[in-house]
Amino acid sequence: MFITFEGIDGCGKTTQVKLLKSYFETKGFEVISVREPGSTKISEQIRSILLNSKNTDIGLESEALLFSSARAQIVKEVIIPSLNDKKIVICDRFIDSTLAYQGYGRGMDLKKLDVISSFAIKDNYPEYTFFIDISIEESKKRLNNASLDRMESAGNDFFTRVRNGFIELTKVNPNRIHLIDGKLSVRMIHSRIINIINRK
Ligand code: TYD
Repeated sequence: MFITFEGIDGCGKTTQVKLLKSYFETKGFEVISVREPGSTKISEQIRSILLNSKNTDIGLESEALLFSSARAQIVKEVIIPSLNDKKIVICDRFIDSTLAYQGYGRGMDLKKLDVISSFAIKDNYPEYTFFIDISIEESKKRLNNASLDRMESAGNDFFTRVRNGFIELTKVNPNRIHLIDGKLSVRMIHSRIINIINRK
């Protein structure tokens, strides 16, 4: 089983990844959880280029390719081998982040991003994607005081486009992407996720 979590910064997906991982582990499954960009030696190096707030001059194409490149490495090194070993893989962000941030957010062509994404992931699409939706105001409130990285420093208009992008992606992929209200309690969000997985 391959599960991904998506949402704008501060939506609480990292907490949900941890809860879901321990839920499966208590049921006796082996679970691998990873985050994007990162989680392999090479992907972490790419992550530091992408998130370094001094790198203000990264071009749009370069940004999209670097995210995809970090992803290609994690797919090859971790995701494919783990799925082959019948492990459950949970990923904090995946292809929908590229479509939402680089596509809807930065305005890049969605079809082109689809092409580089499917190339990077060798067509290993997730079975379930949970999009935890919070408002821009809530995101700002939760990120308050934190030192913002290069992506988080983009303005409200950018994040509004990204959020709307995720909502649009949910409509286009209703069988895969499940929208969950991020204002619900941590426990409530977790039980919704479990219900969706058990229902299928
Ligand atoms: P991270 O600190 O991991 O953010 P979060 O904890 O909210 O997931 O930083 C990842 C940032 O990169 C985040 O702002 C989203 C952005 N991003 C993209 O723009 N495109 C992508 O394909 C991915 C995976 C992330």
